[in-house]
Amino acid sequence: MPITREFIENGPWKPDLFRGKVVFVTGGAGTICRGQTEAMVLLGANAAIVGRNVEKTEKAAREIEQLRSGAKVVACSGTDVRDVHSLAKAVEKTVQELGRIDFVIAGAAGNFLSDFNHLSSNAFKTVVSIDLLGSYNTAKACFEQLRKNKGSILFVSATLHYYGIPFQLHVGAAKAGVDALSNALAVELGPLGIRSNCIAPGWIEGTEGFDRLMGGNLKRKVPLQRYGKVEDIAQSTIYLFSPAADYVTGTIQVVDGAVWHVGSFIGDDVYPVRIIAANNEPIGKL
Ligand code: HXC
Repeated sequence: MPITREFIENGPWKPDLFRGKVVFVTGGAGTICRGQTEAMVLLGANAAIVGRNVEKTEKAAREIEQLRSGAKVVACSGTDVRDVHSLAKAVEKTVQELGRIDFVIAGAAGNFLSDFNHLSSNAFKTVVSIDLLGSYNTAKACFEQLRKNKGSILFVSATLHYYGIPFQLHVGAAKAGVDALSNALAVELGPLGIRSNCIAPGWIEGTEGFDRLMGGNLKRKVPLQRYGKVEDIAQSTIYLFSPAADYVTGTIQVVDGAVWHVGSFIGDDVYPVRIIAANNEPIGKL
């Protein structure tokens, strides 16, 4: 569900919090990162969204632009985060059309379920290249703008690597790397006035990841007794980019209703790990 004006009318934020600022978002046409972009645009920012799919990215940009009169949203479509030169062109286009970049969301990700035995080396490399190398490339391509504007970068991570999640080892390995990347950037770039943080969404309903990866009704396992909403991630994003977080860098903001602390992601009803291990069968292309 798109984020609407009610988000600011009923929310705690000043409507012009990000006026004159520009946010650059990889994966901005996807559900979570689109929600983050929508919230930033509603609060006054202009935006560039970056995606591989031309039609999807262009359409999302036009739609997000409608959220606020005078908003500008640039579509950097046909951009693959695995290619730093492709990202450099997207940055160039953004600066040409919007003048600057203040905030960066590195959110582009790829994922599928696969057990280790059937995960090819190329499949592992593909996910690590999109999620981890893509995050590095995004920071790299935006660095000059971040330095010039004393900007802030937010990596979209996960909680998968906090414990062993079967069939997600490729993503878990990549996201662990993303956390490490962000922490080191916070230390290296802090003296330049650049902040670097991660946001780690939990079970956010209505997202591609949720629909593809989750099964069964697991709400009761969440300490807060509900699934997350895209809006929950948007709210934390605003906080981390706002002046309220001026002294917050090198952190990982988990937004998951405390579910990872419970540590019971896997139930036999959801992921039949033992059956697969016993039969040595692929889990199929989900
Ligand atoms: C097993 C798969 C696979 C699948 C791809 N591969 N999909 N293996 N199951 N479902 C393998 C291929 O067989 C191939 O290995 C290698 O990965 C590369 O595949 P390509 O299709 O050539 O790569 P590419 O076109 O670059 O796309 C890869 C992809 C794709 C991004 C991973 O699955 C895709 O386009 N997905 C849609 C976008 C997406 O994943 N969104 C999810 C976002 S949710 P071989 O050995 O055959 O050459 C998310 C949340 C993460 O990321 C956090 C969760 C909590």
